[in-house]
Amino acid sequence: MEKIQPRFSTSSGDPRLDRRYEWAAAALSEGDAATAVDLLDQTLGEAPGFVAAWHLYGKAKAKLGSKEEAAEAWRQCLVLDDADHLGARLDLARIGAIPAELAASDAFSGRLFDEYAERFDSHLVESLSYHGPALLKDALARACAAQSRALSFAMTLDLGCGTGLMGEAIRAETEFLAGCDLSARMIEKARAKSRDDGGPLYDKLAVAGLVEFLASRRDASADLVIAADVFVYLGELAPAFAQTARVLTATGLVAFTVQDHDGEDVIVGEDRRFAHGERWLRRQLSEARLTPLLLEAASTRKDRGKPVPGLVVVAARA
Ligand SMILES: C[S@@+](CC[C@H](N)C(=O)[O-])C[C@H]1O[C@@H](n2cnc3c(N)ncnc32)[C@H](O)[C@@H]1O
Repeated sequence: MEKIQPRFSTSSGDPRLDRRYEWAAAALSEGDAATAVDLLDQTLGEAPGFVAAWHLYGKAKAKLGSKEEAAEAWRQCLVLDDADHLGARLDLARIGAIPAELAASDAFSGRLFDEYAERFDSHLVESLSYHGPALLKDALARACAAQSRALSFAMTLDLGCGTGLMGEAIRAETEFLAGCDLSARMIEKARAKSRDDGGPLYDKLAVAGLVEFLASRRDASADLVIAADVFVYLGELAPAFAQTARVLTATGLVAFTVQDHDGEDVIVGEDRRFAHGERWLRRQLSEARLTPLLLEAASTRKDRGKPVPGLVVVAARA
């Protein structure tokens, strides 16, 4: 018989303890980690299964410099919630307790974007000057021009399509457009969008993780695989690249953006997003038998007014 998963909740189930948790969160955000720890010690004494309180306890302990105790608290989150809705693995990776490649959580990303969906377009585009789709379209246009081929695709797969900003940018250049996203609310937004002739923006949409979505497609069936500002939620990219190489036609292209950093490997940044070092990325592409046609420094958005460093990549099958 299928096991029914209980719905994840950030509440303890007891309003009094939830209030104490809120006070602890307020104390921590005002910089008083010691008070937060005191309040959470009492709270967790009464409600040891209160996963959000363990998560906050880890943050407060990390703020006080107690890495070991922070790691213990975040590990307790994983014991209570192995799907990791709160992104405890990201925090463990941030303090070096686990490799960044193991830190992604579909449950965390899906929940984050379910909560963000309503204000996503206005917030990202207006407040963070997000322009990932325009950047990718321009990179694709240049890569195609360099190969003397038209910027035109029969079948495009938009990975982590969100509300459809990338779809809007590439719709005129593709006959069939399929998108997937972990967040059902983001997909609802994409489903509500239409193209110029009044038809739906996407021909097919699925609520699915991108590796699973790619795995459901036939070999050599896509001319373009695109991922705008999505790989920042995945540490390990080898499965996504391997599936991409499998589904691309012989002349197909993959285009994506990543956040990068000066180091060699993959890290989880302070913003709890993944940053992929250029050398690491080139190695992963090569192992998946994908060859970069264009790999350039480019920023998709700003953080506190400053461009976030990143790369834009267009690659083809080797
Ligand atoms: C910053 S948004 C970008 C959305 C869209 N590509 C755009 O350019 O506007 C990242 C999206 O990736 C989705 N996402 C994150 N991890 C994913 C995964 N493993 N599989 C599918 N979607 C994912 C999120 O739910 C979110 O909608």
